[in-house]
Amino acid sequence: MHEFEGRTAVITGGASGMGFAMAESFAGVGMNIVLADVEAGALKQAAEKIDALGVTAVAVQTDVSDEAEMDHLCEVVRERFGAPEILCLNAGVGGGGGPTDLLTTRDWKWAVDVNLYGIIHGLRVFLGDMRKRNRGHIVVTASVAGLTSFPGSLPYNATKHAAVSVAEGLFSELAEAGSELAVHCLCPGVVSTNIHTSERNRPKELQNPPGEEASRSEEFAGFMEHLYESVSKPGQVAELVLQAIVDRRFWIQTDAYYREAIAARHRSIENDTDPPARGSIISVYSS
Ligand SMILES: NC(=O)c1ccc[n+]([C@@H]2O[C@H](COP(=O)([O-])OP(=O)(O)OC[C@H]3O[C@@H](n4cnc5c(N)ncnc54)[C@H](O)[C@@H]3O)[C@@H](O)[C@H]2O)c1
Repeated sequence: MHEFEGRTAVITGGASGMGFAMAESFAGVGMNIVLADVEAGALKQAAEKIDALGVTAVAVQTDVSDEAEMDHLCEVVRERFGAPEILCLNAGVGGGGGPTDLLTTRDWKWAVDVNLYGIIHGLRVFLGDMRKRNRGHIVVTASVAGLTSFPGSLPYNATKHAAVSVAEGLFSELAEAGSELAVHCLCPGVVSTNIHTSERNRPKELQNPPGEEASRSEEFAGFMEHLYESVSKPGQVAELVLQAIVDRRFWIQTDAYYREAIAARHRSIENDTDPPARGSIISVYSS
C-alpha cells in the first residue's frame, strides 16, 4: 500500500471542483496539502476547509499562466516540504467556445495560457526536484476533449490534446530513463464543477469587448442543470485519481459516455476516413 501520510500534495486549481475534491481526498489519507489557485476568496475558504480536516493546508495564490508566480509556488513548497509526493497540474478554464470564425485571439490565448502553459510552468518548476527524489506522482488533468475533436470548443480541445500529449510523452521519457516517478493522465467526461463559469477568472486584458463574445458557457450551464444526475461528481473523480495513484495507472477516465466517440476517432485515423465527431461535446449524454 502506498504511504501517503505526512507527504505533500500540490494541487493547482485547488480551490474548486475536481482540484478541491482531490485535496479533500488526499487530506483523508493524511497528506499535507498545498492549494494553488488564482481566485483569492475561494482559495482562502478551500484552505480553511482542508485545515479543518486536521492536516496542514497551505494556500498560495498563483496564476498558473504566470512564470514568476509558478516559480514562487515552487519556492514555497520546497522551503516548507521539499519535493512533493503528488503534483496535480489541474487548473483549467473552459476557454472561449463557439463557432471558430467568432473566436478572438484573446479566447485562444486565455485557453493556451491557463490550460497549456499552466502545465508547462508546473513541470518546469517541479519536475527537476521530483526526478531527483525518484518517486511520486504527477497527475495532468486533461479531458475527453483531449481524446476527441468535437466542433465548437476548439481552443479547449487543442489545449487538452496538448495536455494528453505532454502527459504521454513525459510518461515515456521517464519510463525510458528507468525513473520511479509516475505520470497519470486524467480525462474526465463532464463533471459537476464550476467550469461553466470559468469566465469569472478571465484576466481583464483577455476579455472580449461587449458583443464580441462567442462563449457557450450558457449552454453548458443549462446542460448541468438538466443532466446533473448523469454526470460525475468531483468527489467520485478524486477517488478514481487516488486509486489510479495507488495502482500506478496512467489513464484515468471517469465514465463510459465517450468510449464510442474515442474509438470512432481512432478508427478514422487507422482507416484514413473523415473525422467522425458531430454536434457538441455534450451531445453524447442525450444520444
Ligand atoms: N468539469 C468538467 O466537466 C471537466 C471535464 C474535463 C476536464 N476538466 C478539467 O478539470 C480541471 C478542473 O476544472 P473544474 O471542472 O474542477 O472547474 P472549476 O472551475 O470548478 O475549477 C477550476 C479551478 O481552476 C482555477 N483557475 C482558473 N484559472 C486559473 C489560473 N490562471 N491559475 C490558477 N488557477 C486557475 C479556478 O479558480 C478554479 O478554482 C480543468 O483543467 C478542466 O479543464 C473539467
